Amino acid sequence: MQIVKKSASEVPAYVTSIITDQLNQKKNSILGLATGSTPLAIYKYWIEEFKQGNLDFSQAISFNLDEYVNLPASDPRSYNYYMKENLFQHINIDQNNTHIPNGQAESLQEECARYDQRIQEFGGIDLQILGIGLNGHIGFNEPSNELLLNTHVTPLSESTRIANSRFFDHIDQVPTQAITMGIGSIFKAKKIILIAMGVEKSEIVKQAFLGNITTQVPASLLQLHHNVEIVVDTDCGKLIT
Ligand code: F6R
Repeated sequence: MQIVKKSASEVPAYVTSIITDQLNQKKNSILGLATGSTPLAIYKYWIEEFKQGNLDFSQAISFNLDEYVNLPASDPRSYNYYMKENLFQHINIDQNNTHIPNGQAESLQEECARYDQRIQEFGGIDLQILGIGLNGHIGFNEPSNELLLNTHVTPLSESTRIANSRFFDHIDQVPTQAITMGIGSIFKAKKIILIAMGVEKSEIVKQAFLGNITTQVPASLLQLHHNVEIVVDTDCGKLIT
């Protein structure tokens, strides 16, 4: 595991250079993508680089980490909508090559099994982008005595619902469940980049990457992955010397 500290303004360019190398090496790379506040500046940078002709997504394939259950793709708070709005509609990725779990599938169990199967059919994720929750979650793998390997339906913890209520009018509107890739699905990625920004993430980042490995801090398991880079901005990395 490698921890890289950058100033907040350097992070997007730094992460973009990794994605550019990845796509230059393999045009049809399988990218694992995240939503939330953290990737926004990075996706903006990708869009700029695409417009400059420095990034080409024409053959790229993407799989998102997660989606709320029971929020239609047309809902601006769904991750489906987020991805279109903040990335897909601005770049040359083929929409047929983008994948987001369907939180409205008739059988959510079947949808979960299908999702992992599709990732494997494409040969597995080459580069996975992750954020980290204030409680140490990755995807929506919430702190628990045991973590599930495969893509699954999960209840959202109270702290996650509170954190995500900033995108809703009221906490009661925040879905109570999501579909998320499991820890095993994430671990199969050939390379993982976890990005954490801001002072409010500094404590959990310290616990996750300098502390013991525990399912109560799901991100701490990443210490065991063979190719993981943690990118933090200066504020977030202030407890890491
Ligand atoms: C989003 C996801 C979550 C977020 C995490 C951090 O697809 O899987 O694990 O990465 O909740 O969210 P932000 O970046 O909003 O702090």
